[in-house]
Amino acid sequence: MEVKVIDYDHQGRGIAKIDNKVVFIPKVKVGEEVSINIVKDKKRYSIGKRCNPLKVKYCPYYQTCGGCQIGHLTYEEQLEYKKNTVKNIFSKYTNYNLNNLEIIPTKCYNYRNKVTYHIKEDKLGYYEEESNNLIEVDKCNLLDSNIITLTASLNSFIKVHKKLTKAIIKSLDGKLMLILEGKEDKESIREFFSSLVSSLYYNNELISGVPSLMIEVLSKKFMVRKDSFFQVNKEGVSLIYKEVIDIVKKLNSNIIYDLYCGTGTISLLVSDYAKKVIGIEVVEDAVRDARNNAKLNNITNTEFYLGDVSKVINKLKLVPDTIILDPPRTGISKDLIEFLLSLKVKNIIYVSCNPLTLARDINLLDSCYELNYIKLVDEFPNTYHLESITLLNLRKKN
Ligand SMILES: C[S@@+](CC[C@H](N)C(=O)[O-])C[C@H]1O[C@@H](n2cnc3c(N)ncnc32)[C@H](O)[C@@H]1O
Repeated sequence: MEVKVIDYDHQGRGIAKIDNKVVFIPKVKVGEEVSINIVKDKKRYSIGKRCNPLKVKYCPYYQTCGGCQIGHLTYEEQLEYKKNTVKNIFSKYTNYNLNNLEIIPTKCYNYRNKVTYHIKEDKLGYYEEESNNLIEVDKCNLLDSNIITLTASLNSFIKVHKKLTKAIIKSLDGKLMLILEGKEDKESIREFFSSLVSSLYYNNELISGVPSLMIEVLSKKFMVRKDSFFQVNKEGVSLIYKEVIDIVKKLNSNIIYDLYCGTGTISLLVSDYAKKVIGIEVVEDAVRDARNNAKLNNITNTEFYLGDVSKVINKLKLVPDTIILDPPRTGISKDLIEFLLSLKVKNIIYVSCNPLTLARDINLLDSCYELNYIKLVDEFPNTYHLESITLLNLRKKN
């Protein structure tokens, strides 16, 4: 059937209506009249799929792959789409009208420094959108060129050795880490890959090279282990961290909490502008990295604690004047919201990768804290994802 696309949703899908029922259609443009098949029909909405597959120059798998959602829009249209999405989410869930939103662009291709491949016998690739069907991908142009080169070697390996199930590649400042899983012979893996990568893991065991890789961001060095979180776009993350540093510089803080601190990146980058920075993180390896990263950079005014933010935060003695939040996509927990409402800290810098949970949390904090600054960074071109940096200040009445 033929429909006209009237809008986008927050995941980059087109919205059309059939007899007043909403249909979400991936990979279409607003204004387009498109033939679709209904692939899912729910009570309140349907999912449609375009009949004539869409082609983009940078990727032959675009129509089926779940990795990119808005790569068929020009980059200007992508940036406009992201600004509008955040604006619409905020006007729906908060009291703020974000009329002059700014988004910082980054380069569109070869920006990802990490990839996860699923492997089935001699085929390697990503899962199809909303399914576990494997799409064979021999080259993804969002990936860093070193990852693309290693992918070609991995592809030639699995044509002969068909018992691998998963591969993760990280590429940091020109060095590669390869993390493999499966039932293949360890020696053949070591023999084939050890000269190609700096760090080689197989079924959780380091079988060649060094245990972690180092990356330099804004003149500070960070060691990243196998399971530690590190942002996937170095240019993008440097822009985010620079925004955070610029805000912190103006706040004259004594004590800063960096909650959800990962490997301590933000803590260490802002440590020059506070007496003490305290980081909290739930992944043990990341906390160990954070402590080592402090030593590596000769930083002595940071402390890192392991555990769930909501539980550890109650045990800290030093009272902060600034709290930095950089939670996962789920946002911050109800307990932490309660804590922040009772603490009445002067400044909260909230770095978010999900505008929906950001808006929810800002609304929950609204009785105490007002939003005074927001900037977006397009860390993930061609996908619907983006990062927001916001500053909330304690309302005067408090
Ligand atoms: C978006 S990352 C931010 C990491 C860091 N700020 C950075 O820029 O690299 C979110 C981090 O929160 C951690 N995390 C998730 N839930 C947590 C919790 N309940 N308590 C503490 N840390 C948590 C994750 O392990 C991850 O390292």
